[in-house]
Amino acid sequence: MNPKQIAAELAVSYIHTGMTIGLGTGSTAAFAIHALGQRFQAEDLTLRCIATSHESEDLGRTYGLPFVDFAAVHRFDITIDGADEVDSQFRLIKGGGGALVREKIVAAATDTEIIIVDETKVKAALGAFPLPVAVLPYAWEWTQARLQDKFGVPAHRRSLPSGLPYLTDDSLYLLDMAFAGPLPNPDFMEADLKTIVGVVECGLFVGLCQRLIIGYADGHVEEKAAPPTMG
Ligand code: A5P
Repeated sequence: MNPKQIAAELAVSYIHTGMTIGLGTGSTAAFAIHALGQRFQAEDLTLRCIATSHESEDLGRTYGLPFVDFAAVHRFDITIDGADEVDSQFRLIKGGGGALVREKIVAAATDTEIIIVDETKVKAALGAFPLPVAVLPYAWEWTQARLQDKFGVPAHRRSLPSGLPYLTDDSLYLLDMAFAGPLPNPDFMEADLKTIVGVVECGLFVGLCQRLIIGYADGHVEEKAAPPTMG
């Protein structure tokens, strides 16, 4: 079985009837949506779901999962989402799939954020994966220049294969910061980034993962709970 699927299926086993659930975005989260959808069709589950992207909501709707508006929900019991990188302190880089803004809002409103990854995503230090930063399109060039000034690395605007700018579900641009090495001060970087006017959100998630599930190519799965200070 695909290691992403192994991790996803274990995460979905934590979902019970009556829960309000956040659904992440990306190929790993999609395995979780498939598994939850199959359970929903086979069991008598009462759920309320919120998706972090149109793509995930569309997938959930193919199983008939019941979605509610974010405005109707104050807390989520469990959110299941993927990550691009995770370190030993449960810090994450997310946003490779472009959904980082909604993913972070939903994570912040969630009691137990379960991050599901395959073993390739587990890193000694964050930063080999470009750090996505969501910015206002109106001022993207100005913001890009400020990011380069402040952090000394290029921030490339994400594009579609057509060359047009990639737009998030919230009509933002993404600038991918190419650190290509350990992020400097990951615990403080989000605050530093947000001093730049024009930055809406970044894909660095600190203190937002309560549970980590890692699927391995050999078929085994590992599960870790974040110490209270980290999650
Ligand atoms: C979506 O915006 C991302 O945060 C994804 O969770 C992340 O990119 C992982 O994606 P995959 O599960 O497809 O690797």
